[in-house]
Amino acid sequence: MDAIRWEGKTLYLLDQTKLPVEEIWLPYTDYRPVADAIRTMVVRGAPAIGVTAAYAYCLAALAGEDLKQAKAVLAASRPTAVNLFWALDRMERKAGDCGDNPETLIAEAIAIHQEDVAMCKATGLYGASVVPDHAHILTHCNAGALATSGYGTALGVIRAAHEQGKVDMVYADETRPLLQGARLTAYELVTDHIPATLIADNMAASLMAKGKINMVVVGCDRMAANGDFANKIGTYSVAVNAHHHGVPFYVALPCSTIDLTIPDGSGIPIEERDKNEVRTLYGVQTAPATVEVYNPAFDVTPHSLVTGIITEKGVIYPPFQENLKRLFG
Ligand code: MRU
Repeated sequence: MDAIRWEGKTLYLLDQTKLPVEEIWLPYTDYRPVADAIRTMVVRGAPAIGVTAAYAYCLAALAGEDLKQAKAVLAASRPTAVNLFWALDRMERKAGDCGDNPETLIAEAIAIHQEDVAMCKATGLYGASVVPDHAHILTHCNAGALATSGYGTALGVIRAAHEQGKVDMVYADETRPLLQGARLTAYELVTDHIPATLIADNMAASLMAKGKINMVVVGCDRMAANGDFANKIGTYSVAVNAHHHGVPFYVALPCSTIDLTIPDGSGIPIEERDKNEVRTLYGVQTAPATVEVYNPAFDVTPHSLVTGIITEKGVIYPPFQENLKRLFG
């Protein structure tokens, strides 16, 4: 399963706002609508928006446009996932080396795309080693093939463990307000014939209290130097619940999601989205149109609630600050 394709000189994105009901691929030859596609979540998930931005940068180069301007427009699309800025910085460095040569830049974007798949596969294998036999795993939001270049981070761990016969059940939080768990994670699990149960977000604690979950694994949008991390809103409450019930809580991510320039989670910028995402449920009004709404897209989970950090280089345990630093040599 994939959500991003580059063919000839055109970028194609699978419109994730329409899943799982319709599978529609949208073509892009201009970088500006790609910035809109990231903002409106046609494409979403930290690694996927990094890869998409890299290709959009190529579209600007192919059109002979100002690459500094293109980078600024793309970087303004969403603030939290660091992969977006990581990928754009890498493309800008390459542009400096090659004098803005579009073919060289396309090769760099393709490399970022392919490396991401390899990182997910490696992360999946390391992660599978910490999955217990007869696993009943809870995950939140979508950190799957659709959120990456394929395979996924948290879902990569689940896919690899499933291939090893370890997974009895995956519980997917539906993930209000935009339902990435219901629409995307459930879709990936059902498509891959992985045993899956969809739950509303407020059901996880009750399942843990009944002993029905023996591991949590989630994805990440940005991790600070001390291991605090931002992920989809609701991740923090899953971590608190897991800690209370003694359930191991893992976060899976590529190293490109780690931002050592930010000492702890308080410095991670958190996106606030349109209030109507909470007043409505997929276009249908479910609250008074004028009610005040709080709609942060992400929250920060403190490292003290994390059992282990799963990366493409291995699984890291506390003390996270020292061990993350060591990871980058
Ligand atoms: O708002 P979204 O759907 O982009 O949020 C996605 C998440 O929070 C994912 O868990 C995260 O980006 C990791 S994806 C491998």
